[in-house]
Amino acid sequence: MESAKRAAAEYAVKYVQDGMIVALGSGSTVYFMIQKLGQRVREEGLKIQAVPSSDRSEQLARELNIPVLDVSAVSRMDIGIDGADEVDRYGNLIKGGGGALLREKILAFNSNAFHVIVDEDKQVDALGKFPLPVEVIPFGINLAMKHLNDLGCTPVLRVRNDKTFITENGNRIVDCQFDKITDPDLLSAAIRRIPGVVESGLFSGKLVKTVIVGRKDGSVDERVLRD
Ligand code: 5RP
Repeated sequence: MESAKRAAAEYAVKYVQDGMIVALGSGSTVYFMIQKLGQRVREEGLKIQAVPSSDRSEQLARELNIPVLDVSAVSRMDIGIDGADEVDRYGNLIKGGGGALLREKILAFNSNAFHVIVDEDKQVDALGKFPLPVEVIPFGINLAMKHLNDLGCTPVLRVRNDKTFITENGNRIVDCQFDKITDPDLLSAAIRRIPGVVESGLFSGKLVKTVIVGRKDGSVDERVLRD
């Protein structure tokens, strides 16, 4: 899917203009987006400042000489560009496959225009095939997992390389396999009511300005959800 990811990522970069503060998401699709931004900085002298959602995105931005701002220095971002694990027709998303969902949601919520870049395989009729990542603090995580189970999913504590996965915020990720998510906003609210849960990877379509879908043949389909 590399060509599809690259196509969506490079298309989104056309929305970035001189003087903008740009929120950078995380993941392999975002990698191509940051590369393209770096190219524009290098070749066109594009003047932007970036607020990264993960150490990896920050490192890449710095390598490409994209000026990086700490989130504490901004009150708002002009634009945010990020990938997703699933997107439905209303622009509702599952995110957090890479574990950066909390910082990604903070940046998306505080961006004037949030653009989602995905390959065509990420489009679904209903969210839920991809296990929903939920960021939970370590204390009492067993109890939070019981309540997640009560909401109708199979919760699994994320493990990577035989070790419990720890987010950049020092928390854990619980991946929740639901049969099908029929009302993402309702489910998101129910999950966030569980003590210990910090945030879920359900992003409401209300946050999203456009969904940019890349295809394997390099073509792009853009869905504009709001002005
Ligand atoms: C990371 C994310 C990513 O945007 C999501 O997992 C998609 O990743 P990729 O572009 O590598 O398929 O939410 O927390």
